[in-house]
Amino acid sequence: MSQPGDTAPPRGEDIFWAFGKSENAVMLVDGDGRMTRANPSTNALAARALPGEPSERLLGLIPADAWTIARDTGRWAGEIAANEVVIEIVLHCGEREGVAQSVVTFDDVSLRNARQIELQQRHDELHAAHRRLAGAQEQLLQSEKMASIGLLAAGVAHEINNPIGYVHSNLGTLQEYIGALFALIECHESALQSGDPVSRRGDVLAKRERLDIDFIFGDLPKLMAESREGIERVTKIVQDLKEFSYVGRGEEMRPSDLHKGLESTLNIVWNDLKYKVRVEKHYGDLPLVECHLSEINQVLMSLLINAGQSIETRGSIDIATGAENGEAWISLTDTGCGIAPEVLQRIFEPFFTTKPIGRGTGLGLAIAYSIVTKHHGRIEVSSQPGIGSTFRVVLPVVQPAGAAASA
Ligand SMILES: Nc1ncnc2c1ncn2[C@@H]1O[C@H](COP(=O)(O)OP(=O)(O)OP(=O)(O)O)[C@@H](O)[C@H]1O
Ligand SMILES: [Mg+2]
Repeated sequence: MSQPGDTAPPRGEDIFWAFGKSENAVMLVDGDGRMTRANPSTNALAARALPGEPSERLLGLIPADAWTIARDTGRWAGEIAANEVVIEIVLHCGEREGVAQSVVTFDDVSLRNARQIELQQRHDELHAAHRRLAGAQEQLLQSEKMASIGLLAAGVAHEINNPIGYVHSNLGTLQEYIGALFALIECHESALQSGDPVSRRGDVLAKRERLDIDFIFGDLPKLMAESREGIERVTKIVQDLKEFSYVGRGEEMRPSDLHKGLESTLNIVWNDLKYKVRVEKHYGDLPLVECHLSEINQVLMSLLINAGQSIETRGSIDIATGAENGEAWISLTDTGCGIAPEVLQRIFEPFFTTKPIGRGTGLGLAIAYSIVTKHHGRIEVSSQPGIGSTFRVVLPVVQPAGAAASA
């Protein structure tokens, strides 16, 4: 039998010659299912798949119904394993000069399959690593959040202590007032129960004078209102803290009120700012913005703390908000020390800090950046050393389709 692959090209345009060099095993088969020609790769494949057997036996790997299908439709293809070799077989049935003929190609795909399995394994490993990384990032985010709360704890405690202090002192005063009112009631009672209450009128009036009842009447509602306000303030701070430390793991982004976020964040950092910073608010009209508000609060908190820390003795922070072209923005401008150009390039790097050990870990802006990026937004910075800095957070009002759920 001629082997076109290892002889000189045959005369004319024998198409089978082209297959001589093919890596795939190619066979010509006559109408009776017998091999008439085969290229050299056929022998090599047969040696691997059917050691010691003639290459024609490769045809025996083709299922019987494959021939019927190929004769009816012109083609059959399938994958068959022999001796751990996986072979992709394609069978073409047709005619040549009125005589039935078939061409069969055998492609050893074992390597390809092994590579695919390896690739799948690598993909799975990568996927698992990505999941672990995402988990670690979430943990980092949470611990940075907790660390900043830790740093603020003293201030927050003070913010809570203050109202608790005056509510406590008000309760003491209220107790005195109640004592006085009870004493007056008793005085009234004994006057009523005496035979001649009218003659006791002077006693009652004197008692009333002595107990300063008029003053109590005026002061009591004020004390009550002030105490109520104090309790409300504590409730609000606790609620803000709870909201701030909340982890919305796996939750969808929700349309949120950024002004509310700003206010509660300001509430938490207030004690750190109030002694040296005047905060000016220029709030514009903001639509509800699709986001994880507790994460955006964390961004605002980092920016507010940085702004506060950049101001040495006294200064101001201007907070402005607005929305245009489907985006909402919040900008914070401080009159702090400003940022030198060579520092400005690095401020979003994790662990980059110019602050002394114990004051800054250099994670605030890195985490703020990753949160804002996750929200498909951006943080813009401009700064002039010695004059101050502006940080502007820009967020899309509506997240791109599907992003709110997958984020
Ligand atoms: N408003 C600002 N004014 C001046 N410098 C700033 C301002 N915001 C950030 N920086 C500079 O950017 C650096 C990085 O800020 P970042 O918030 O990431 O870390 P940090 O404040 O140093 O530490 P951490 O936030 O982890 O406590 C700061 O150390 C500071 O040099
Ligand atoms: Mg910081």
